Amino acid sequence: MQDKPPIILGIESSCDETAASLLTKDAEGRPVVLSSIIASQDDEHRPYGGVVPEIAARAHVKKIDNVIEQAVSASGLDYDAIDAIAATSGPGLIGGVISGLLSAKGLALALNKPLISVNHLEGHALSPRLSAPCSFPYLLLLVSGGHTQLLAVKGLGDYVRLGSTVDDAAGEAFDKTARVMDLGFPGGPAVEKLATQGDPDAIKLPRPYRGKDHANFSFAGLKTAVARAFEASDGSARAKADIAASFQKAVCDVLSERTGRAMDMFLKHTDESGPHRFVVAGGVAANKSIRTTLEALCSNRNFTLTAPPLKYCTDNAAMIALAGYEHYIKGNFAELDVAARPRWPLDGNAASANPASGYGKKGPKS
Ligand code: KG4
Ligand code: ZN
Repeated sequence: MQDKPPIILGIESSCDETAASLLTKDAEGRPVVLSSIIASQDDEHRPYGGVVPEIAARAHVKKIDNVIEQAVSASGLDYDAIDAIAATSGPGLIGGVISGLLSAKGLALALNKPLISVNHLEGHALSPRLSAPCSFPYLLLLVSGGHTQLLAVKGLGDYVRLGSTVDDAAGEAFDKTARVMDLGFPGGPAVEKLATQGDPDAIKLPRPYRGKDHANFSFAGLKTAVARAFEASDGSARAKADIAASFQKAVCDVLSERTGRAMDMFLKHTDESGPHRFVVAGGVAANKSIRTTLEALCSNRNFTLTAPPLKYCTDNAAMIALAGYEHYIKGNFAELDVAARPRWPLDGNAASANPASGYGKKGPKS
């Protein structure tokens, strides 16, 4: 192994962000993000009010070369400086994953450098470590348009899934709520804004799985209940605001109650006396009410809350490069025929013991 910390090119294309990043570590072992370029596809998907897999795949193919070129150029380095290419190989929308993985394979061949296959969820699991020290073990809530799951992150390569959605992701429920009320895309920020004008107790909505002795989620029923509530309303601005506020409160309650259950489970994976670390990542973590609710939960339960900065919280390639870096150090390289995987649970054992995983509009959740 060389003395100089390796420089890893990370590539991410599993949902609706096309991203590339160069990353290394400093002499103290802290990650250094040399560049991180993200091309969003919001404009492509906006007319449909959600991510359309076919459109996503085509957009990745169109954007990826340019995004990689920009990442190399922004790092101030040449392609020759790259020691390995790490790409998301799943889980995700398969057309997009294939597009990023094929680009990585081509580069690995052309540069004669190793290829590293990265699980997108491992990228999210390690993402808090991009911007600040975050020692193992920690409890992670990943809550985005593609995923809603709770993981015990015990160490590199040592992840235990404590719960996940059995149907839709929380972000999909936000997007659907926005779509039925014609609020625009992506729905989360629009629903959050409108919720400030509504009464969170105006509409009675379900809290799926409340009190259940596991840490799984279900959002399909909540989504349907919101659509019914809107149909039954007079469609006025007041009604929309009340539905947005009531929906957001339901999501806050569900995330907090299910996370509380996962905290009980997490304690079996640590011998520390606390405070324990709780990390929330994913696009939905941008929501201020959700953050406030989770902060209150943490202070009641002797956990500290960490949220990576938004640029590392939502889909990005720096987290893929960081996971790739750790695999490089362990010598975990992939063959050039490595396959793209639409489903790829981070925790294989738990996945077979617990089949909870969803397949919604944005694709497989684990
Ligand atoms: O992590 P992310 O950028 O990527 C994917 O899932 O691909 O998450 C996007 C999701 C969308 O569903 C969006 O509506 C939701 O995160 N989101 C929010 C907020 N900002 C983004 N949900 C609730 N409140 C927000 N402020
Ligand atoms: Zn993601």
